[in-house]
Amino acid sequence: MLVHVKGVLDADELREARAALQRAPWGDGKVTAGAQSALAKNNLQLPEDHELTALLQTLVLGALKRSPHFFTAALPKHIFPPLFNRYGGAHNAFGNHVDNAVRIHRATGQRIRTDVSCTLFLADPDDYEGGELVVEDTFGTQRVKLPAGDLVLYPSSSVHRVEPVTRGARVASFFWIESLVRRDEQRRLLYEMDLALLALRERHGETEEAVRLTGTYHNLLRMWADT
Ligand code: NI
Repeated sequence: MLVHVKGVLDADELREARAALQRAPWGDGKVTAGAQSALAKNNLQLPEDHELTALLQTLVLGALKRSPHFFTAALPKHIFPPLFNRYGGAHNAFGNHVDNAVRIHRATGQRIRTDVSCTLFLADPDDYEGGELVVEDTFGTQRVKLPAGDLVLYPSSSVHRVEPVTRGARVASFFWIESLVRRDEQRRLLYEMDLALLALRERHGETEEAVRLTGTYHNLLRMWADT
């Protein structure tokens, strides 16, 4: 499933992130690509070990922690430290690829299985032409270009690409999640059930049925979660 999470970064955080990225020492994006995706990848990235990256990672991870919508859609077990990229000028596209299945956390050496891929948009859609994230989903091809501060998450198993940016620059954060629930279809069931429960409670308040269904949600999570 592909989920759009609105307003992950607030206006202040967005301003801070963009100001920091103005002084970014962009490098070749191929450094974190696998062999196949390196052939398709033509963008710029902030070096993983730069102090600016650390500052921005703290900002993004803090914002994610505040987002119940992100949490229920991703059910994160481990979040790979967010990275930052830029598409524009001569480095403006990333052809079809599937993300590497396992990433190594630079600082800890820990292996993280990529179940969910995320893009957090930092540039306003009006600031650039092209640059759509195109994801081949089970429901067909989705073209995604979101307001600054919004995030999209999708199964890391999907073939996806970033269309050429033909004007301006598309700046974003991207990262991967190892989920408590490995399978996309199980995460989807839990996600839809949780949203339906929220809506039920809003409409009818706490009811015996809502309590029982909440129990079922947690029992499914207990059955499927790998902690
Ligand atoms: Ni990718």
